[in-house]
Amino acid sequence: MSTTLLAPETASKTSPTNRSLLEWDTAEFDRCFNRQPFLIRHNLCENPLFNVERLLQLAQDLPESDIEYNAGSLPINQDPNLTPRNGLSVADTVRRIKECKSWMVLKHVENDPAYGKVLDDCLAEVRTQSEAIAPGMMSAHAYIFLTSPGSITPYHMDPEHNFLLQVHGSKIVHMFDGNDPSIVSQEEFERFYGGRVRNMKLADENRSKSWVFDLQSGYGLHFPVTYPHFVQNCDEVSVSLSITFRTPDLDRRLGLHSINWSLRQRGWKPAPVGKHPLLDEAKYQYYRVARKLNMI
Ligand SMILES: [Fe+2]
Repeated sequence: MSTTLLAPETASKTSPTNRSLLEWDTAEFDRCFNRQPFLIRHNLCENPLFNVERLLQLAQDLPESDIEYNAGSLPINQDPNLTPRNGLSVADTVRRIKECKSWMVLKHVENDPAYGKVLDDCLAEVRTQSEAIAPGMMSAHAYIFLTSPGSITPYHMDPEHNFLLQVHGSKIVHMFDGNDPSIVSQEEFERFYGGRVRNMKLADENRSKSWVFDLQSGYGLHFPVTYPHFVQNCDEVSVSLSITFRTPDLDRRLGLHSINWSLRQRGWKPAPVGKHPLLDEAKYQYYRVARKLNMI
């Protein structure tokens, strides 16, 4: 895969639909959902819920446990356990986001009814096409990212289906193919799911293997499950909304990698997920029983 800079024009070919919040090319969605990143359009840019003043109120209403924030001038390979704080309160970080060089995420914003409705309405539109590809939409959550000009979100991957909707400002997203074993090895998947280890390291030889998206306001980007990425904020304050959900097949993925992780901790060399379907099935059934009995 060679590096390509995909400008927003890529999504301007979207066919007209009856959807009111999101718009995408239906053929591209069918071809790419959970296989390859692709751009969509959204119409949230004028929505006052995403103004900094309204986000300040939201941040003050949310429980502390649902807010994560830190310094935003970070290296791509930053260890999340050693991420430096920015020395400010939540409210001051929001108020001074233009100059305080910070990165902030407001989690589970769907617990606020106004934001919950945005999430529900967006995912109702996604569901019309995602169900045929990844049935059983569940565990819907929304996150709002508020970032200072020039901030970096270090290299990492996420366990959910995700559309990142850019509402204000713009970002450059570097995304890597999570199905390429030279980018994410079996052991890295096991560490991620079984060891709950968040930090990942982007190898120098893999830097040129990314898709690169210039994500402008009014556009959204689909992130396939566990496709690693890092994000560079551009010259303005950025506000983006991440709409996420899970499907039952992801529980199986979690179970299989978790079992392989514990086998590896005990000195075994477990077969990669997908190599022996019958063995995978046995492992997953064991995982489900063990989880029910609180053994894992
Ligand atoms: Fe992410």
